Amino acid sequence: MLERLGSLPVARSVAALRDEVAQWRRAGEAVALVPTMGALHQGHLALIAHGKKLADRVVASIFVNPTQFGPNEDFARYPRDEAGDAAKLAAAQCDLLYAPTVGEMYPAGFATTVSPGPLAEPLDGRFRPGHFTGVATVVAKLLLQAGADVACFGEKDYQQLQIIRRLARDLDIPTRIEGAPIVREADGLALSSRNAYLSPEQRAIAPALHRTIAAVVTRVGDGAPLPEAAAWGAAELARAGFAKIDYLEICDAETLLPLATRERSGRVLVAAWLGMTRLIDNLALPRSGA
Ligand code: PAF
Repeated sequence: MLERLGSLPVARSVAALRDEVAQWRRAGEAVALVPTMGALHQGHLALIAHGKKLADRVVASIFVNPTQFGPNEDFARYPRDEAGDAAKLAAAQCDLLYAPTVGEMYPAGFATTVSPGPLAEPLDGRFRPGHFTGVATVVAKLLLQAGADVACFGEKDYQQLQIIRRLARDLDIPTRIEGAPIVREADGLALSSRNAYLSPEQRAIAPALHRTIAAVVTRVGDGAPLPEAAAWGAAELARAGFAKIDYLEICDAETLLPLATRERSGRVLVAAWLGMTRLIDNLALPRSGA
């Protein structure tokens, strides 16, 4: 029931995935799942390495999920390179690639979605209507299909990670959700499959995203009021050459509501555009005294 891409075994169906995982389980092996949309970079490979530390077997999924893209977003042009991804996964000693078709994930008559609640309302939720319903639905399906002990997600999509933690708790999905730190280029730019869209000029501006939110964290640490620090950050991004800033907000790290007190852990989150490319990033704002 498994195909092969180079040396990497590939499951295309839920049944083939479940079969393989069941064999590992019978042998007493723990299983980690790393859900991705492909176009793999070092950030994804760090998640595979993280999974390998936590479990005996690692399954990576690649599925460019149409339901999490808006009508005017980049679903059609999202980078796809299954053979290249498979080679990277094999080199990272991933045990199995799960690469279902759209028909396998959303067969005719598919009608049920997962509504992720208040965590999905602010930040990206305001700018990408329906996005997190698509994410929550596909992630719930992937978790239930794989039946892994643990699933690893990057902190780069911080709001997504909080939503996934909530959904696993709320739907009693018995897979532990693990977040892993953002992997960055030497100049601070967070790795993203979408960085491939940047022109050389845009790529030169892009590190200002990380630089600015790091400066916002420093300013708040030095006593700047939260709204003032956030407004300074947005102005700084505009000065650096970002055409449009969807948001730069300082939120409660757990609820994602505007941070009300420095006695709780915060998160500085940003989404901004360079030409047609939307970049996101975030950084921890430790609670005062921490
Ligand atoms: O972060 C991603 O790549 C995607 O949103 C995910 C979690 C694989 C769901 O499609």
